[in-house]
Amino acid sequence: MQADAPQTVHLADYTAPNWWVEKVELAFDLHPTATRVRSKIRFKRNPDAAGRDLHLDGENLSLITLAVDGKPLTNNEYRKADTSLTVPGDTLPQDAFTWEAEVEINPEANTALEGLYMSNGMFCTQCEAEGFRKITSYPDRPDVMAPFEVRINSDLPVLLSNGNHAERGNGMSVWSDPWPKPAYLFALVAGDLVAISDRFTTRSGRDVALNIWVRRGDEGKCAFAMDALKRSMRWDEEVYGREYDLDIFNIVAVDDFNMGAMENKGLNIFNSSAVLASPETSTDDNFARIEAIIAHEYFHNWTGNRITCRDWFQLCLKEGLTVFRDQQFSGDTRGAAVERIGNVLSLRARQFREDAGPLAHPVRPESFVEINNFYTATVYEKGAEIIGMLKRLVGDDAYYKACDLYFSRHDGDAATIEDWLKVFEDTTGRDLTGFKRWYTQAGTPRVTVTDSFKDGTYQIDFEQVTPPTPGQPDKEPQLIPMAMGLINPDGSEARPTQVVELTEARQSLRFDGLDARPIPSLLRGFSAPVILDHSPGFNDRATLLAHDTDPFVRWEAGRALTRQTVMAMLTDRAAPDPAYLDALHMAAANDTLDPAFRALVLSLPSQDDIAQGCVDAGVVPDPTAIHHALKALGRSIGDHMEGLFTTLYDRLASDAPYRPDAAQSGKRALRNMALRRLTPRDEATRARAQFDTATNMTDQLAAFACLLEAGDPQVAAQFEAQWHGDRLVMDKWFMLQVAQAEPKDAVSRAEILTEHPDFTMKNPNRFRAVMGGLTGGNPAGFHDPSGAGYRFLATWLIRLDAANPQTAARLSTAFETWKRYDADRQTLMRTELERILDTDGLSRDLAEMTSRMLEG
Ligand code: BES
Ligand code: ZN
Repeated sequence: MQADAPQTVHLADYTAPNWWVEKVELAFDLHPTATRVRSKIRFKRNPDAAGRDLHLDGENLSLITLAVDGKPLTNNEYRKADTSLTVPGDTLPQDAFTWEAEVEINPEANTALEGLYMSNGMFCTQCEAEGFRKITSYPDRPDVMAPFEVRINSDLPVLLSNGNHAERGNGMSVWSDPWPKPAYLFALVAGDLVAISDRFTTRSGRDVALNIWVRRGDEGKCAFAMDALKRSMRWDEEVYGREYDLDIFNIVAVDDFNMGAMENKGLNIFNSSAVLASPETSTDDNFARIEAIIAHEYFHNWTGNRITCRDWFQLCLKEGLTVFRDQQFSGDTRGAAVERIGNVLSLRARQFREDAGPLAHPVRPESFVEINNFYTATVYEKGAEIIGMLKRLVGDDAYYKACDLYFSRHDGDAATIEDWLKVFEDTTGRDLTGFKRWYTQAGTPRVTVTDSFKDGTYQIDFEQVTPPTPGQPDKEPQLIPMAMGLINPDGSEARPTQVVELTEARQSLRFDGLDARPIPSLLRGFSAPVILDHSPGFNDRATLLAHDTDPFVRWEAGRALTRQTVMAMLTDRAAPDPAYLDALHMAAANDTLDPAFRALVLSLPSQDDIAQGCVDAGVVPDPTAIHHALKALGRSIGDHMEGLFTTLYDRLASDAPYRPDAAQSGKRALRNMALRRLTPRDEATRARAQFDTATNMTDQLAAFACLLEAGDPQVAAQFEAQWHGDRLVMDKWFMLQVAQAEPKDAVSRAEILTEHPDFTMKNPNRFRAVMGGLTGGNPAGFHDPSGAGYRFLATWLIRLDAANPQTAARLSTAFETWKRYDADRQTLMRTELERILDTDGLSRDLAEMTSRMLEG
């Protein structure tokens, strides 16, 4: 167990700091094992604070000197603990003083990848949320904002920090960031890097230098990210009226990075997987993700940096809003319907899963032990849904007016959710007290629908219930914007979309003057993050799939039919209903529909989705049975539609030069779906031919996955021989071999791969590839009845935790559904969770996650 009892931080305990910071000057003498950091910080008394003590955070720092207004501090003039340094108020000047410190840190020993660390010979930083304290003593909290000036001394050729480049000389560079920022947005990069460069002129005429910095050899993989950056900059000007505010914008790609990317002011740092792309090495999905992340981090410049968070409980203020903005951008760029369906798929897979288990928490949590554990699907994705609901409720014009007010009123502030909601109240005159529950109440509301039709009147009754979650046994009704329309039995529209505001536990609605019983088209565009409990008959769903005007509801109707089919296969051993297969065939063959949409209609729910469906139906999920049912359904679909798939596969072949745009990737998605369904029927001959001749990674990887699934004995070695020099492609190789293994072989495949010379725990991408290939890619393998999957994961989490707690804690969420399963599996998983928790020296990160999972 932990040596120090972990401290819980509560939102209710927030107090402003005793001292504000007016100016920060930092000087770095870079050295891999002994970097010196000198800081000069101008503090100014907060006249509203009751106390006068100076509280600084600090972790793993060797203090060399400390001084106040030039006078060195003696040992009895400050108190130093493991993670803090306090100077009593009575030894400090009245109103203002200059703090100077010199500390030494060891970047090479920093395997947590938080603070200043080394990645392939290059120095880089990651300070969000609380990493700056590993660089120097500082009030490391987001409400303390200051301009920074940074001097870097090093012989390395490229020396970067935030803001504008003020000075450069032999072995040194000075960067000056005029915009006050919290320490979590500080960044420094130094290395032997090369840039691809471009320029952007903002609409008010500022000329901005753009650079993407990469390791030598990767220059050819930056063009797409650069283009995405320029399009993001333009989009934010056009849609939100937000312009960039420095003369330079730098992006750096690093190989070892815990997250996807980080929005440091003027110096975004990216996981190389989130920036480097080429047609030969990246899939269409990789391109789409890169575009979204580039946009996301860029958009933070206003939603996060110019306006930041008062404290980490307000994290959704920047993350939820910025995810919403990147989703809007992707929708505008790639097509709103398909993007929306993708977002809902992710929300259900990650956030609904979280909300239904022991880790459920409100979008604005009330307490935490380790803030890194709260960068969750709930804060991000449900946080983004809240913004979307707000926009739908107030309308587009009021939404952008409120945003304008937010930007002008709070520019330079560290703000709160209350501030955000207030700009909407002030713009619209609406009282949003009830709406605020979306931020404070955890759990996914379940809306049950019943309806009746008599004498031309259609009545629909809604009942909403939010289940209990840890620490929140009783729930209030929420304001649910239910976008709905009515469809006639012939598929024509009986009533167009209207947004019904559900605010009560029960609510009814009537429609008069109808000729026939209509089919309700509910939750259009997925207008609220709720579970809709509504069981229309087969014909109604088939009609919605064939005719609804709302593409989300159309897709959802098909998905509901598929889920129903899988559930019947599982519980009644029923074969798929030919009428269902015909309905699916009709949608798949409909050439007026976007191929990307048709691929989504043909895609099967995940194993995890079906497991949750079992729980909802009161059945204990059997991962092995689910695996076989989905496989069998895939084969039935292939049998039923062989002709169509053959035609699609041939007709969608293309000689056009590769473009990662939505139109081309949609066609590839549909064609590769056809390939997958045909593979069990053609002895993998198409997959083999496609693998051998593919000129882009999307097609090669799709064929690779089919061949692995078909048990091809050579393909893994061939792929490795071709790509062993490319880390990002090799991550795919590691992941897919585990994901596509027969469930009974998955754990041993993963074990073998951890012995591969290219496997390393130090690189989070590689570690995630193998572990995620098992836990997410091969659930039946992970849940092997022997418990081998659980033991394997727990063993590796314990190992990784000693080096990199943040990534270990994230991957531990594979256990969050443990209570869904049968008693034997529950015991096996609980045993592993307890084994983790009993480990000596366990990190606060992993200790908090495992104990919440055990208790919740
Ligand atoms: N601010 C985060 C990065 C971050 C997360 C830093 C957690 C420290 C701890 C960044 O803006 C972010 O949200 N990145 C996402 C990608 C984004 C497209 C949702 C990520 O890294 O996954
Ligand atoms: Zn973000």
